[in-house]
Amino acid sequence: MPPSSSALIIAIDGPAGSGKSTTARRVAERLGYLYLDTGAMYRAVALGFLEAGYEDPEAAPAAFLETLDVGAVPAEGGMRTLLNGRDVSEAIREPAVSALASRAAVLPAVRQRLVEAQRQIARRQLEQGRGVVLDGRDIGTVVFPEADVKVFLVADLDVRARRRRQEGLARGQDRSLAEVRAELQDRDARDQSRAVAPLRKADDAVLLDTSGLSIDEQVEAVLRLAAERNLSTPVK
Ligand code: CDP
Repeated sequence: MPPSSSALIIAIDGPAGSGKSTTARRVAERLGYLYLDTGAMYRAVALGFLEAGYEDPEAAPAAFLETLDVGAVPAEGGMRTLLNGRDVSEAIREPAVSALASRAAVLPAVRQRLVEAQRQIARRQLEQGRGVVLDGRDIGTVVFPEADVKVFLVADLDVRARRRRQEGLARGQDRSLAEVRAELQDRDARDQSRAVAPLRKADDAVLLDTSGLSIDEQVEAVLRLAAERNLSTPVK
């Protein structure tokens, strides 16, 4: 990017396994921006519920949420996620946490708290003249509807299931393709149908189907959108 480029907010939304996290992380690296994985924050809350024995997040008393302190700390090659000061970046990737995250994400109190935290983290960066790449489900629609670049990533369910199974294998989770596929389908359905901030493409987001794209191609596509945006806006 030219030295005069402005600090942008880049919003990357889409369903599970569409390539959001990898794309967002690499775009942030290339631009020297902060990367904020908002899904990791929902996962951390879910882990908090799970560890306290609340397998049904709706059954937890409202005050319990107040005891959960979720932190996102920039780190080499991405970000680390903290729960009450403990690094839970690995633990939140367990399949049990994925399922519970989307159930916890239905709760308005959970969303309100995390959206506020996400806005604060991003605004602090922007104040320092640094851009932010956020990935999630509601970034372009709710968290930052005014984002400079909005991308909605999609991919065929079978492609997403294969990718997610491979990622799991790399972490030592050997699950069948059918099981991974069913989990994604279940989570997509819940994320799309919830009353508050459902997963949907913002009207002004660019739709990118990653089914046949490599990570490099996805990253380049988003970088091109950012460069176009930088050319069309005066420096902030
Ligand atoms: O990485 P993956 O796509 O599997 O999921 P994630 O981004 O880590 O998000 C886990 C869950 O958190 C999702 O299934 C959503 O229910 C929820 N989530 C959300 O509601 N809003 C966000 N901005 C990010 C995640």
